[in-house]
Amino acid sequence: MQVKKLQDLDVAGKRVFIRADLNVPQDEAGNITEDTRIRASIPSIQYCLDKGAAVMVTSHLGRPTEGTVGPDDTLAPIAVRLGQLLGKPVKLVSDWVDGGVEVEPGQIVLLENCRCNKGEKKDDETLSKKMAALCDIYVNDAFGTAHRAQATTHGIARFAPVACAGMLMGAEIDALSKALHAPARPLVAIVGGAKVSTKLTILKTLADKVDQLIVGGGIANTFLLAAGHNIGESLAEPEMVKEAKEVMDIMAARGADVPLPTDVVVADEVSALARANRVAIDDVADHDRILDFGPKSAAKLADIIAHAGTIVWNGPVGVFEYNQFAGGTKMMASAIAHSEAFSIAGGGDTLAAIAKFDIAGDVGYISTGGGAFLEFLEGKTLPAIEALEARFND
Ligand code: 3PG
Ligand code: MG
Repeated sequence: MQVKKLQDLDVAGKRVFIRADLNVPQDEAGNITEDTRIRASIPSIQYCLDKGAAVMVTSHLGRPTEGTVGPDDTLAPIAVRLGQLLGKPVKLVSDWVDGGVEVEPGQIVLLENCRCNKGEKKDDETLSKKMAALCDIYVNDAFGTAHRAQATTHGIARFAPVACAGMLMGAEIDALSKALHAPARPLVAIVGGAKVSTKLTILKTLADKVDQLIVGGGIANTFLLAAGHNIGESLAEPEMVKEAKEVMDIMAARGADVPLPTDVVVADEVSALARANRVAIDDVADHDRILDFGPKSAAKLADIIAHAGTIVWNGPVGVFEYNQFAGGTKMMASAIAHSEAFSIAGGGDTLAAIAKFDIAGDVGYISTGGGAFLEFLEGKTLPAIEALEARFND
């Protein structure tokens, strides 16, 4: 993947338009509850300010209706948080597409929610051209939105005088490429979550690449079903058994492996008060629900992880939100944290597990992408990255 990089450009005195992904969770009063994406956007912004660029930053927030800025849509709370992190106030500019943007070298302004502009979601050419005309350099730093072909992530890259990747985008591309395109072996992938159906493309793509494919959660249950085990009343998708078998066959044909649990943690219900029992996989009763890997299986996973060269992690192996079903995910998280391998993690649940087990500092790279991370794992070309690649040579 060849894209121009912000660090390689002379931005002094230039008008720089940064598309960031500042789409962060908020509580009902609008307070930001988690600001990782804002913090991850700071290096590119700070770099441009330090070099004397006139900096315009925009992002989407939520999925608003185009043409109005409702009270839930405004980037006002983001401007405040950005200002705190940069140590200077950040002015929020509305009506910036037609009204124009006044900003001096060394200054920053935040441009109101770009998804409130008519034509953003449809990647409208007229809107893209107007936005491109605001700047000398377009910087896409919004990896979390790289799977969307919209006017600020795609169209504008075609018309801006220069289009490049910001530092976060560059780091995401480098980390994901390192893990998937040139991995140190063995390459181990962990794919957890509720459903095979939502992750089928990922499972199939990874089945062609990885040395070991660890499946967890409801996905593992469907694989257990496919392998002929009784899974009682566990969450699974019987209609996906054929696909699960296919994935295991692809792996087996390559001499690779899908290590299924040999012991599991079961309960009658999924709740904080549920009584958990550890049983061998052949002892799962008809009324049981499998809610975690058992200790023997978790130890086996930890061993696989300990010998990996590269680890790609998306999704927990158990219902880790409840402590009695958290053992498998905890042991896995700890194995990843202690491993010498290059590890990369992404996805909402995965980030929650990383936070719960406090291993953020010990993971090689934590992606800010949710959907974008998953589509990268699926082997898809992300439109925002493709748009930057198309501008590499000019
Ligand atoms: C996300 O949070 O997934 C990204 O910011 C992209 O948002 P979207 O799914 O609304 O396009
Ligand atoms: Mg999303």
